[in-house]
Amino acid sequence: MTEATANIGVVGLAVMGSNLARNLASREGNTVAVFNRHYDKTETLIGEHPEAGFVPASDYEAFAASLSKPRTAIIMVKAGAGTDAVITSLTEVFEPGDIIVDGGNALFTDTIRREKAVRETGINFVGAGISGGEEGALNGPSIMPGGSDESWVTLGPILRSIAAIAEGEPCVTHVGHDGAGHFVKMVHNGIEYADMQLIGEAYDLIRRGTDKSPAEIADVFADWNTGELESYLIEITAEVLRQVDADTRKPLVDVILDQAGAKGTGAWTVQTALDLGIPVSGIAEAVFARSLSSKPAQRAAASDLPGPSEAWTVDDPDAFISDVRDALYASKIIAYSQGFDEIVAGAAQYGWDIKKGDIAAIWRGGCIIRARFLNRITEAYADDADLTLLAAAPYFAEALGRTQEAWRRVVATAAQAGIPSPAFSSSLAYYDGLRADRLPAALIQAQRDFFGAHTYKRVDKEGTFHTLWSGDRSEIESVDTH
Ligand SMILES: NC(=O)c1ccc[n+]([C@@H]2O[C@H](COP(=O)([O-])OP(=O)(O)OC[C@H]3O[C@@H](n4cnc5c(N)ncnc54)[C@H](OP(=O)(O)O)[C@@H]3O)[C@@H](O)[C@H]2O)c1
Repeated sequence: MTEATANIGVVGLAVMGSNLARNLASREGNTVAVFNRHYDKTETLIGEHPEAGFVPASDYEAFAASLSKPRTAIIMVKAGAGTDAVITSLTEVFEPGDIIVDGGNALFTDTIRREKAVRETGINFVGAGISGGEEGALNGPSIMPGGSDESWVTLGPILRSIAAIAEGEPCVTHVGHDGAGHFVKMVHNGIEYADMQLIGEAYDLIRRGTDKSPAEIADVFADWNTGELESYLIEITAEVLRQVDADTRKPLVDVILDQAGAKGTGAWTVQTALDLGIPVSGIAEAVFARSLSSKPAQRAAASDLPGPSEAWTVDDPDAFISDVRDALYASKIIAYSQGFDEIVAGAAQYGWDIKKGDIAAIWRGGCIIRARFLNRITEAYADDADLTLLAAAPYFAEALGRTQEAWRRVVATAAQAGIPSPAFSSSLAYYDGLRADRLPAALIQAQRDFFGAHTYKRVDKEGTFHTLWSGDRSEIESVDTH
């Protein structure tokens, strides 16, 4: 009979699981049971890391027997069918009160479904978003757990012990019940898409508008990383742009095929936003920009379409770079504001009590979008927990006021020069859309009423109205059909 010596277990020992298991084992008080569907990965891990004192198991029964109660296991397997298969196996060997954590990148609606099904067995199920890739898993990720309050009592101290630390605080908080953690992780990834696209557009404009080399642009990004744009993504961009290809001695960025891949969490963010009716246009443009880049046949078919013919450079590179920096900052504020809008809408839809300021705080360390200005988001929600619009909070309103003229110059310049800047320009359009006193939505309502009798409301009196477009064009009171 195996002795129950481990207080935590990990199922799935590929890159993420093995690093997370090592992180857990390195923290005082933890003994980690490990299991993988194919035992060779388990053998490799325990062989390479004898210092971790792992308790290996070759089947689910032995794995369950090696865990003290309440048994707690973190699943780190390929999201989807693999997760369901492992959950089924674990529920067969676990008992009521035990805790199953899915640390993979699950779709939050799957997590809601799984939590409901597992709860019926008396076992707790927690969907936990884990950000930071391989390095984060090993040294400290940002962790976004959902699940029940009961499971958080056991899980909280374990997750706090392995999370990244930002300004003395572990980057983990109990986000909300059932799928809340995976929902917030999904939006995190959507913001990551937007942030990366914005940085890409900034690089492209500087590269094409000045005679700077990638290495020189690396210096620009390194400089930006000392100010309000300071972030992991800006930091690694400088490193990437400095990298020289060993074979060709060209900048590495120039020999990488310009077709961006995606694993789907950005698309989930946008699909969910569409369902919730939340305009996350910056994130959507970032997802679409990756799709466009990965359409070589269409790009080839379009390559002879007309555009500005003259080679373009700016007159004052320093001023232009300063403008691009401002455009990047302003657009980034919009991307976060849109992402938090989606979190607010998701929380309302699914009944989660999500503390927005805490989310910004746990994104300060361990994760890909970690950035200095997340503190400002936490402060904004500390001042007003029910903030209607993050971008309109005083700090961000001031920043947008300070940067908006440069932002407009950059978008106008990009359009005239024929340089695609979908995330910069859609963020600006969103900003101006929100600011507008009147929107052409009034005309759209009239059109809808014309062809579909969808009715409209008036600015000057209560009620719902319809114009008899195919009759005498008089207006009648109507039932609201939307
Ligand atoms: N890579 C990242 O940077 C990153 C970052 C955040 C989150 N994540 C998420 O973390 C999870 C793990 O990622 P990963 O890159 O380490 O691994 P992965 O390549 O996504 O998955 C490989 C692991 O899944 C197991 N697996 C697949 N199907 C299974 C099944 N039907 N039953 C049991 N086990 C099964 C494999 O076991 P075998 O060895 O037996 O095939 C292996 O341990 C994923 O959900 C991923 O989305 C990854």
